Amino acid sequence: MSDAIAFIDLAAQQDCLRDKIEPAIARALAHVGYIIGPEVKQFEADMAAFAGGGETQVVSNASGTDAPALPLMACGLKPGDAVFCPAFTSAATAEVVAWLGAVPYFVEIDEQTFNMDPGSLKQAIAECARSDLTPRAVIAVDLFGQAADYEAIRVICDENNLKLISDAVQGFGATVNGKQSIEWADFVSTSFFPAKPLSCSGDGGATLTRDEETADIMRSLRVNDKGTHKYNTVRIGMNGRLDTIQAAILVEKPAVFADEIDRRNAIADRYTEALGDILDVPRVPEGYVSTWAQYTLKMKVGAREDFAAALKDAGVPTAFYCPKPLNHQTTYENFPVAANGLPVSEELSQRILSLPMHPYLAEGV
Ligand SMILES: Cc1ncc(COP(=O)(O)O)c(C=O)c1O
Repeated sequence: MSDAIAFIDLAAQQDCLRDKIEPAIARALAHVGYIIGPEVKQFEADMAAFAGGGETQVVSNASGTDAPALPLMACGLKPGDAVFCPAFTSAATAEVVAWLGAVPYFVEIDEQTFNMDPGSLKQAIAECARSDLTPRAVIAVDLFGQAADYEAIRVICDENNLKLISDAVQGFGATVNGKQSIEWADFVSTSFFPAKPLSCSGDGGATLTRDEETADIMRSLRVNDKGTHKYNTVRIGMNGRLDTIQAAILVEKPAVFADEIDRRNAIADRYTEALGDILDVPRVPEGYVSTWAQYTLKMKVGAREDFAAALKDAGVPTAFYCPKPLNHQTTYENFPVAANGLPVSEELSQRILSLPMHPYLAEGV
């Protein structure tokens, strides 16, 4: 049987916003300001307002991969430096560290939240101090839409003079006691890849910070460091701009984003109500609001394949996220790992299964 419902239904959102998005694209085509045009600037301002306004600077860019690379480049990350991050995440999280010749140092996750375990982070920092590496930064990931334990991680970063990057690609808009990760992180990175909660119709990303000076450096780096003087670059940059036509689409999204997060939470509640007594469903800690990029169950070892097959027959698609933690992937297998092993990441990689999740998943499906 073919899938009766979509895992993520991009067309449903498009149907709701078509009367706004199509004229917005037409306007961008007409004014021909294709590179960092007015919609890019408008979207950066709207996004800063969504993230609480005030001092927040938004540097839009080309992807959720470029988004953490820009602050690491701006801070001068170099060979011999270490950046602590989970292995239970997209390769993009660690990739940007390796790009710059630095070392991703893999940290364990918490079994309940799937996010960085602060105890393991402390242990990794202590181990790193006994090596030749210089600890420089932490990248905490908001996996499946739930914010990492930023309060605890910020304290550890302060104690060890480390920059904190929030990889909020899946969790941009998630809150802890009403606050977004920018309240704790030096930098927040996000992606507008179509499957992400706040998305465009192609690739895009953004980096948020309250550090105006570093924001200016990142604005220069994203245009091959042409910021100060086009023919006298002082840093190695990249071409990492957000496309104006994607920005024209994105400008229409903040108005519906808060409502979409509410809708995702209502769907997660329905799943939890229906499944909570029979399956190991995700639990959101008190005070946290997730953006539910994924609704992810923990199955018994060996049980998820049959369960997924049965759901597929019933027209319900599923996904196994992160089936191989990064420390077991060829590129990253020789990088250091906290306590020489990540048993929780390894076990969960074999046990988790995600159900369809998007804001327009109809009742009764
Ligand atoms: C946690 C996380 N970080 C970074 C990325 C990279 O984002 P992009 O595909 O926009 O480069 C992804 C993409 O799936 C991700 O899930």
